[in-house]
Amino acid sequence: MHKIAVAKGDGIGPEIMDAVLTIFKAANVPLEYDVVDMGKWVFDKGFSNGMTPEAQETIETLGILFKGPMETPKGKGVKSVNVTARKTWNTYANKRTFQTLHGVDTVFSKAGIPIDITIVRENIEDTYGGIEHMLTHDVALCRRFITRPGSYQVIKYAFEMAKKKGARRITCGHKSNIMKITDGLFLEVFYEVAKDYPELNADDVIVDDLCMKLVTKPDLFDVVVLTNLQGDIVSDLCAGLVGGLGFAPSANIGDHISIFEAVHGTAPDITGKNIANPTALLLSGIGMLRHLGLMQTSAMIENALLYTLESGIHTGDFGDKAIPSVNTTSFADVIISNFGKEPAVNPKPILPDLYVTPTIFKLEKNPMLESVSEGEEIIVGVDFFIESNEQPTEVANKSLEHTMGIAKLVTISNRGTQVWPKGSVFTNLVDQYRCRFESIDDAALTQTDVLELTKRMMTDFKVCSYEMLNKFGEKKGYSLAQGQ
Ligand code: NAI
Repeated sequence: MHKIAVAKGDGIGPEIMDAVLTIFKAANVPLEYDVVDMGKWVFDKGFSNGMTPEAQETIETLGILFKGPMETPKGKGVKSVNVTARKTWNTYANKRTFQTLHGVDTVFSKAGIPIDITIVRENIEDTYGGIEHMLTHDVALCRRFITRPGSYQVIKYAFEMAKKKGARRITCGHKSNIMKITDGLFLEVFYEVAKDYPELNADDVIVDDLCMKLVTKPDLFDVVVLTNLQGDIVSDLCAGLVGGLGFAPSANIGDHISIFEAVHGTAPDITGKNIANPTALLLSGIGMLRHLGLMQTSAMIENALLYTLESGIHTGDFGDKAIPSVNTTSFADVIISNFGKEPAVNPKPILPDLYVTPTIFKLEKNPMLESVSEGEEIIVGVDFFIESNEQPTEVANKSLEHTMGIAKLVTISNRGTQVWPKGSVFTNLVDQYRCRFESIDDAALTQTDVLELTKRMMTDFKVCSYEMLNKFGEKKGYSLAQGQ
């Protein structure tokens, strides 16, 4: 029998996890559970990443973690154990499925508009790197990493999943009209991967337009793939379309380790009352059973859940107020009593089990994700981020003294808007400028040239940070300032 790691979590976590494992036991799910120590109380014991070394070892050995929600202690400078787990184990694709559930009334279900949307959110990169700095007293910076191999992993997963699902459409949500380099790279990889799937209808939508379309015509969408932060926001929007967080399951898929959990948190306001809705965690568990190839058992449990919802049984957070709600334990018991029944609407097909023994893996070293680079890579300039509360012309006059005959001062911007050589006095300033130097005639600069320029700039300014301007073949690896 396959063994998986289980972490019950904080708040309502143990209540809903016990309900789900009771359902699994009654359904004879052929799994063994190794309960591991993760969550707030582990932080409180002094483990700064929210899990014990034994828990980490167990999860890395078993490869599957089924987890309840976990609380991130506030104001202690600690990182979320949920995010740490997803990033440490490279669960690069966060898959969240949102379907109309008969018995869960929403404006769309009442209007007869069916929803079946799968959001695939990149799970490792973007601003979720949490790399943030105060550059001056007034200016905070968050670095946003979007990488080619990271984008490829999640987009490839989304296409494979869409193909298996027989999806009508796969859409990339993005903001590449503004973030041309980062979101532009994600979109570029999307269309590169799309070439391998001519049978799928692949397109893209700008994320703000996507949100508008999702709330007006959700039935137009099938699989949607997005970067991390945009995916996070859009998936909560989709949860709202199908009845709220109580119905939003989530799978964090990696090549070696995968994590299954509900989208919602620990619900401290209802903890300990045995009234939480276990549906999202149960749907996540059903997804985990499918991931493990346990098709028959997963279909039986899902059909019993759908039948239960359809019959009007509900916990306090949803459903017909005229029908008294049941508590968490009773809700699980009703589902068990409905094993073998099928909902009138959209019953899940009972497919034969495809169970394959998971591959035993042991990594000796960290995998390096690297794609083949095109064209020669040269440094053609540098952006200095400097602290100054002087006017743009004064900053320019001082900077112009430091060009060393190898570089020219091209533009100065403040919060991304050009203020020199041209600009407007109506542009408000903060005490941080970006001064861009480019090499003369696109000649290659060395890192030593950049260091020398930095030293010169330091004689007049505090250089908070700098970023080199790279060229890859004929392609510039940097954006223009607004107004440049
Ligand atoms: P939350 O999702 O815990 O609660 C938001 C609202 O939804 C509350 O009114 C709550 O009672 C309700 N709710 C959530 N799940 C429910 C369920 N199963 N049944 C019935 N009602 C439910 O979000 P909140 O309050 O922002 O976060 C609380 C804690 O959870 C925080 O410490 C946060 O960091 C953590 N969290 C953990 C997540 C995870 O482990 N993946 C995800 C989101 C938050």
